[in-house]
This record gives sequence, C-alpha cells and structure tokens, in this order.
Amino acid sequence: MHRCALHRVRDKRYDLPLLHVRALRKSFGTTEVLRGIDLKVLPQELVFIIGPSGSGKSTLLRCCNRLEEPTSGAIMFDGVDLMARATDINAMRRRIGMVFQSFNLYPHMTALGNVTLALRKVVRKSRADAKTLGMAALDRVGLAGKAKVLSRRIVRRPAAARRDRARAGARAGRNCCSTSRPPRSIRSWSARCLPSCASSRPPA
Ligand SMILES: Nc1ncnc2c1ncn2[C@@H]1O[C@H](COP(=O)(O)OP(=O)(O)OP(=O)(O)O)[C@@H](O)[C@H]1O
Ligand SMILES: [Mg+2]
Repeated sequence: MHRCALHRVRDKRYDLPLLHVRALRKSFGTTEVLRGIDLKVLPQELVFIIGPSGSGKSTLLRCCNRLEEPTSGAIMFDGVDLMARATDINAMRRRIGMVFQSFNLYPHMTALGNVTLALRKVVRKSRADAKTLGMAALDRVGLAGKAKVLSRRIVRRPAAARRDRARAGARAGRNCCSTSRPPRSIRSWSARCLPSCASSRPPA
C-alpha cells in the first residue's frame, strides 16, 4: 500500500473531513497489506487511489465500511467512530456507497431485481418506488431493455465471452471483431470504450 499515490483533484471546500482514517493496518495472516494508512477526505472532495495490483486499494476501501475488519487503526465517518462497538455499522453503511470491482450480481435475479434489492430491503422503499428508481438507473446505462432478463444471461465472464467470439469467428471464417454480435448493451459499451473496434461495424 505504501506504493499507492493519493491524488487530490478538487479544492478543499470544508475543513472537517467526511472520512478520516488514521494509522490503519490490515493483515491477512502473516501478510501485512496496509501498514499505517492516514487519509482525510473532505466533503465534495474527489480522491483517486492509484497503485499496482495487490497493493491494497480494495482492502483500504473495504476497511472504510468494515466489510474488511481492520487489524488496528481508527476510521471516522462524518464524526462517527466506525470502529466503536456502539456504532450501528449497518446504519453507517447505508451512507457509504460502494461499487464492487467484480459484478457481484445475484445470477438468479433479473437486472431490475438486482438493482432494486437494496432499495427494498435496506432503504425500505416500496416495490413501486424501487422499480421507478431502478428503471431510471438501468435506463441511464442503456440497460432498460434488459430489466426483466436474468443477470446471468446479461453478464458473462470475459473468458466465456472470448470463447464465444472465437467460436463465432471460426464458424464464419472471419476475424472475431467483425463477426461477433454481443447484446446491444455490450455493443454500446464497446462503441464508447473501443472506438476503433466499433468503427469497423455500424451501430445496431
Ligand atoms: N480475504 C483475503 N484473504 C487473504 N489475502 C487477501 C484477502 N483480500 C486481499 N488479500 C490480499 O491482499 C493484497 C491486497 O489486495 P487488494 O485486493 O486490496 O489489492 P488491490 O490493490 O485492490 O489490487 P487490484 O488492483 O488487483 O484490484 C493482495 O496480496 C491480496 O492477495
Ligand atoms: Mg482492487
């Protein structure tokens, strides 16, 4: 973790940190991953944590809402001591958003079911309100049309996707980029992320 760089890209607006981490240490067995991390994040501030794979970025973030139990150190969020026994950590977690590195979807649930689950069970929204919010979120990322599709049919592991593309390419006797027809949502991602690839075929 000591190799990670913390880059602040926004000016301070307030003096009191929203998140204040002090002397945070985390070991997995004999491997010490976090060796005394100090970090302050102010309200409205945007902080990027950059470092090589395995340097402890995810571990640090997971410690910040105690999805990972720190070995020692202090974590204050909005003035509340997250390490204190008396703190309702689940209540605090409702205020700390987290996007997981891997998809972490429930494969047996639909896309809409996945995005509305926490709204219904944690925030206690009504089914109708959760659906409205969930559909808006799916629409924002171009997945409204997949709302009722099981997530395991939408998200495929990269290796499986590569195998499918290779098979499709072999069948058609052409290169995989021009022959594969991933679902529309994945094509729109490709168009944004891989313009050189997308330009080789017209949008759907
Ligand atoms: N639950 C665990 N048990 C044992 N070791 C773990 C556990 N979680 C993480 N580690 C180890 O801690 C180290 C830091 O892992 P971490 O996932 O935080 O790295 P990272 O910086 O997020 O890497 P990446 O850029 O690949 O996501 C790695 O050596 C990893 O193997
Ligand atoms: Mg990580």
